[in-house]
Amino acid sequence: MAGARHVPVLLQEACDFLSLRPGAVVADGTLGAGGHSAAILERILPGGQLIGIDRDPLAVEHGRSVFASHGSNVHLVHNNYSNLRAILDSLEIGFLDGILLDLGLSSDQLLRSGRGFSFEAEEPLDMRLDPEEETPTAGDIVQRATEVELADILFTLGEERHSRRIARRIVAARRRGPIRTTRELASIIAAAMPGKRGKIHPATRSLQALRIKVNNEISHLELFLGGFYDCLAPGGRAVVISFHSLEDRLVKRRFRELAVREGAKLLTRKVVRATDEETRSNPMSRSARLRALERGPHGGEEDNRA
Ligand SMILES: C[S@@+](CC[C@H](N)C(=O)[O-])C[C@H]1O[C@@H](n2cnc3c(N)ncnc32)[C@H](O)[C@@H]1O
Repeated sequence: MAGARHVPVLLQEACDFLSLRPGAVVADGTLGAGGHSAAILERILPGGQLIGIDRDPLAVEHGRSVFASHGSNVHLVHNNYSNLRAILDSLEIGFLDGILLDLGLSSDQLLRSGRGFSFEAEEPLDMRLDPEEETPTAGDIVQRATEVELADILFTLGEERHSRRIARRIVAARRRGPIRTTRELASIIAAAMPGKRGKIHPATRSLQALRIKVNNEISHLELFLGGFYDCLAPGGRAVVISFHSLEDRLVKRRFRELAVREGAKLLTRKVVRATDEETRSNPMSRSARLRALERGPHGGEEDNRA
């Protein structure tokens, strides 16, 4: 991903909540274009270790060129953040002082991946974050799902009020021939929407829903939320930035549960949003929601490891 343009959101806030210091061991579960990782690394050197994970092989390749000079302080891993424990084990790292997730898609993927993430893209309807995974593409789902299944995806994962109407139009359109590109699909969805066009493109929610479905994003977040706490050292911190209310609800619920059951400290009682200044300069930050948590002073049984 040469010439990366992704601007990291809530960067200062994420670094502050991670409470970074030289020597810390921190994982960035969503490396992307490496903006957050670079800021983390700056604050944990000398002596710190950064583990940068991404599901997209191009993001990891880009990271290798950006962080080439940092040698053993940086470990870049092409994997899913939901495999965090296994990733740490393979690196012989016991516990983390910090973990960051900045969910969703980078602007590099949106604009230049060639995988059809943008409604403007005259690109194949693929939408896999990891094109090496042999799982159904967005095109496969659009072509094969029943009308009810399509409506369910758009409603549950996109909170799209017009899900049924859109699903009906998609099914009618695919009878005339395969829907090959994201732009083609976006225009079918736009034509199905009643009323005037608002500020955001009418296909935004539906395309987001399809992407989440293609990549099983909710299940991976749930897996992560189930296991990350045991990867944190006592006093270690986790920061999650999400862009979707469904994801934010999962994070909020799990963090609360950890506070009640495991003595974790909630660092954000209210969700943190981007300032007006940030949303003006980086529209992607408009829907960002950050939550942070600190592991209690006492570790679980696993704290004997490493
Ligand atoms: C919003 S971008 C991160 C941007 C990054 N913080 C930066 O400053 O450049 C999200 C990244 O997370 C990756 N991603 C999404 N789900 C993932 C998962 N389950 N495991 C690993 N990486 C994932 C995407 O491929 C994408 O590169």
